[in-house]
Amino acid sequence: MSAERGAAGARVRGVAAKLNAAIVRDGKTLDAVLAEPAGVADRDLPLLRALLYGSIRWHHRLAWQLDRLVTRRLGRGRKDAELAALIRLGLFQLQWLRIPDHAAVSATVDAAALIGAGRARGLVNAVLRRFRREEGRLDAAMAEVPEARWSHPRWLIDAIEADWTTRREGILEANNRQPPMWLRVNTRRVDIDDYAATLARAGLSAERRDDVPSALLLEEPAPAASLPGYADGLVSVQDAAAQLAAAYLDPRPGQRVLDACAAPGGKTAHVLEACPRLAEAVALDRDPDRLKLAADNLARLGLAATLIDGDAADTEAWWDGRPFERILVDAPCSAIGVVRRHPDIKVLRRESDLDAVAALQTRLLERLWPLLAPGGRLLYATCTVLKRENHGQIERFLTDRADASLLGGHRQLFPGEANMDGFYYACLEKHEARQGSRASSPKQ
Ligand SMILES: C[S@@+](CC[C@H](N)C(=O)[O-])C[C@H]1O[C@@H](n2cnc3c(N)ncnc32)[C@H](O)[C@@H]1O
Repeated sequence: MSAERGAAGARVRGVAAKLNAAIVRDGKTLDAVLAEPAGVADRDLPLLRALLYGSIRWHHRLAWQLDRLVTRRLGRGRKDAELAALIRLGLFQLQWLRIPDHAAVSATVDAAALIGAGRARGLVNAVLRRFRREEGRLDAAMAEVPEARWSHPRWLIDAIEADWTTRREGILEANNRQPPMWLRVNTRRVDIDDYAATLARAGLSAERRDDVPSALLLEEPAPAASLPGYADGLVSVQDAAAQLAAAYLDPRPGQRVLDACAAPGGKTAHVLEACPRLAEAVALDRDPDRLKLAADNLARLGLAATLIDGDAADTEAWWDGRPFERILVDAPCSAIGVVRRHPDIKVLRRESDLDAVAALQTRLLERLWPLLAPGGRLLYATCTVLKRENHGQIERFLTDRADASLLGGHRQLFPGEANMDGFYYACLEKHEARQGSRASSPKQ
């Protein structure tokens, strides 16, 4: 290895340690830290991402291992936090990356000086070497420690266990896998098999799913912008579980559709692709930056919606009094179904966040229901598996409500099921109070 590559290797690890600490100590998200210029060469960006995603995905296990390998406890100050992050990165490399031990250890030790911890070089070296010697003992001990074994916080393991006892291991394992890349093809503009053939000519293999007719699963992820027809709006990146929303909502020509939590616009766009002759699509979100992403997305796809920057629950501020035949509430949630895509959720989410999230979901349902026309349909969706946000939310909403019924039951998709994200859908129909009508189940 040249001295130049050696220095670059140390630099990537130093940057990764700082970014890891910015997530673990300061509570920043993975997306936020990766959006900043990283200070490494372009060719080192894939390694930086691999180090960062991997060390966050396995954070709870790595932190437990570190605690067992250092005799001096590292403090909460920035310097110690970055040093601890660097050692966790070293442990991650030894267990998950195909880099020879000596190269991983020496680049990690050299990175100590770059995070202002030059005097801890010996500590970094000693801990990584001790890990190799004691790996077998640590593995055996880990089996008894759920946080380390599953690399999830204990409260989340317990919450999943309480709701889905027999599925617990499957959910936890799926949360720790790397997610696949799904595409949504605009099948009004291009036949999906033709598009798959175009991908194959570009060297990308993809598989269809019969029950999600717009979805293609890429064998290997690829940059979105490199996909054939991406700039022209033939294709978007969207998990197949999210693509089920348009079918459940079942929009019809001439209807007014509200997407109440719309940004960055993935489902709004799919609804418009599925049913281009709507009377109007209103896409609302209270985060203006994310709403801008929705505007960009719709522009790329050549689709039009009325965009409103507002609080969906504060209907007096933005509703013009005309009812909607379809409402999509893709609610803010704990996002436990998409941990494989956003492993920082395991580090950043607190059990205490759940009360506020659940209260907001309740408020959104209560406040948006009056905007639905009789005979209309409201689709409630989350990307979580926790029952209090899903079944619990809907069962409570339906209690003593004479004008609502649930079509087709609760639909819970588990993370990893058919290689999809974890999602929940409940389709609510509005009828006149004494009518009690029930329509057929939504298409699946
Ligand atoms: C799950 S994401 C929506 C994803 C989007 N439907 C898609 O498919 O691309 C939830 C969104 O709800 C928005 N949100 C949270 N609380 C809201 C509120 N009170 N009113 C409107 N939007 C809200 C968030 O800003 C976030 O963009």
